[in-house]
Amino acid sequence: MSQKKRDILVTSALPYANGPIHIGHLVEYIQTDIWVRFQKQRGHNCLYVCADDAHGTPIMLRAQQEGITPEQLIADTWTQHHADFTDFDVAFDNFYTTHSDETREFSELIYNRLKEQGHIHSKIITQAYDPVKEMFLPDRFIKGECPNCGAADQYGDNCEVCSATYSPTDLINPVSAISGEQPIEKDSEHYFFKLADFETMLKEWTHSGHIQEQIANKLDEWFETGLQDWDISRDAPYFGFEIPGAPGKFFYVWLDAPVGYMGSFKNLCEKNGLNFDRYWARDSTAELYHFIGKDIVYFHALFWPAMLTGAGFRTPTAIFAHGFLTVNGEKMSKSRGTFIKARTYLDHLNPEYLRYYFAAKLSGRVEDIDLNLEDFSQRVNTDLVNKVVNIASRCSGFIRKRFDGKLSAECAEAALFQEFINANDAIAEFYESREYGKAMRAISALAAKANQYIDDKQPWVVAKQDECDEELHAICSVGINLFYVLAAYLKPVVPQMISKAELFLNTGELPWPSDLSPLQDHTINKFKPLLTRVDPDKLAAMIEASKESLEKIAPN
Ligand code: MSP
Ligand code: ZN
Repeated sequence: MSQKKRDILVTSALPYANGPIHIGHLVEYIQTDIWVRFQKQRGHNCLYVCADDAHGTPIMLRAQQEGITPEQLIADTWTQHHADFTDFDVAFDNFYTTHSDETREFSELIYNRLKEQGHIHSKIITQAYDPVKEMFLPDRFIKGECPNCGAADQYGDNCEVCSATYSPTDLINPVSAISGEQPIEKDSEHYFFKLADFETMLKEWTHSGHIQEQIANKLDEWFETGLQDWDISRDAPYFGFEIPGAPGKFFYVWLDAPVGYMGSFKNLCEKNGLNFDRYWARDSTAELYHFIGKDIVYFHALFWPAMLTGAGFRTPTAIFAHGFLTVNGEKMSKSRGTFIKARTYLDHLNPEYLRYYFAAKLSGRVEDIDLNLEDFSQRVNTDLVNKVVNIASRCSGFIRKRFDGKLSAECAEAALFQEFINANDAIAEFYESREYGKAMRAISALAAKANQYIDDKQPWVVAKQDECDEELHAICSVGINLFYVLAAYLKPVVPQMISKAELFLNTGELPWPSDLSPLQDHTINKFKPLLTRVDPDKLAAMIEASKESLEKIAPN
């Protein structure tokens, strides 16, 4: 490969440690994993880190509810998350936790540096307080009647019935969602990060190619409203890191969450002997990318670059935001059975179906994507099973039976093979820019060409004619060689299917096909089905299993 080898560090947002991974989350982890696998396949030095986001009030309360310590809760959740990711082939180089020494040390370091430079100040604020539970109440733990439509049991600062937004103090008959008691108002000293100190830097940074245009426009609105001080402290009881020099005060979970990217990477460095500063120092030449959902842009595109700059670290090369997942055109819903947990999916269906389907739907823009269950089966069956896998199965039988498993000594369609190879620049550009839908369409178009070739040449007819062995050998060898290139292109998306293809092709790991030459005089192995069609009964069973009773989960 003529290209220069890049040093790339990639992250996905850190999932909260108080709930299971669901298929909405998986949009992000699959999107990132495909990108990372693509970079690795191209020979770049690409590292992918993540962690559980282990702190905050919801996690503390959930542990209490379950009668275990928060440490036990986050350990159990870590095990489940890790198993879910592994089974979906999301291949982190490190999956860690924010509740770690590394993350604590960097959080303290960043905080201390910001403080030394006068970017932190404190003031007394008044907040809702639960007098029974003896704790301050985050907005979403106060409920009451909507001041606009009167609907009962509305949480925090917006109404699920009429969509009105308001301040939790406007709720009628407010009560603590934890104790049911009426909250009182109470004063407390809080620490604030002066985001406005970084306004010039942020305006410049957000307009120099680090974020998608749609997001930059959104940020402009926020600049116009004015950058507000950010409250980075919470009072005990809180599950998190205590603030140095401020007993009883803890870092707000969103302060140490992005620092968890550094913490996880530091932990990887310790394990693998990598140089942390090479990736995070102000003058680093490595690339750093954060994949996130559109709901957490404010934290990643404003607070995070400001914190990093203030503390003397480099800023991200880019932030890649994606939209949200809907199922059959609607928000995921427990009663409709479309709130599908990663584990429930895995109990019924092959993870590669979902990886392929998301790839087919994803673009580089911040658009919501819809999982339509009919379309899901159809695309997987048509594009992957019928079109791609079929090429191999149509040709391999003859090669095994008639030619002892050996491909012809010369590729009879060198130009066609080269055409498949020449598509690699365009397909690589699609992967690089996260236009996976376009990549899948380009690959599908090639697969259609390969099938057309086989249809035209009719090897099953040739096979019945006398003295046409050579022709049959040529046709089937071309088919296998075209499949070989397609498999290489699909490797980032469906790694399990392609590792079976690699066994069948007897090639070892397929590199990015920029300079593959045809397999000639090469022995292939017996063909085994690489992927089967989506079983409609299993799809239905998954939906049924997802229709669990509406358990009351503490809001996140
Ligand atoms: N803990 C924070 C992130 C901290 S990053 C320093 C968080 N956790 S989360 O579990 O709620 O979400 C993790 C990621 O999954 C986020 O990027 C979020 O946008 C994404 N998604 C969660 N639900 C989603 C959908 N329904 N659809 C697509 N992405 C979704 O936010
Ligand atoms: Zn309302």
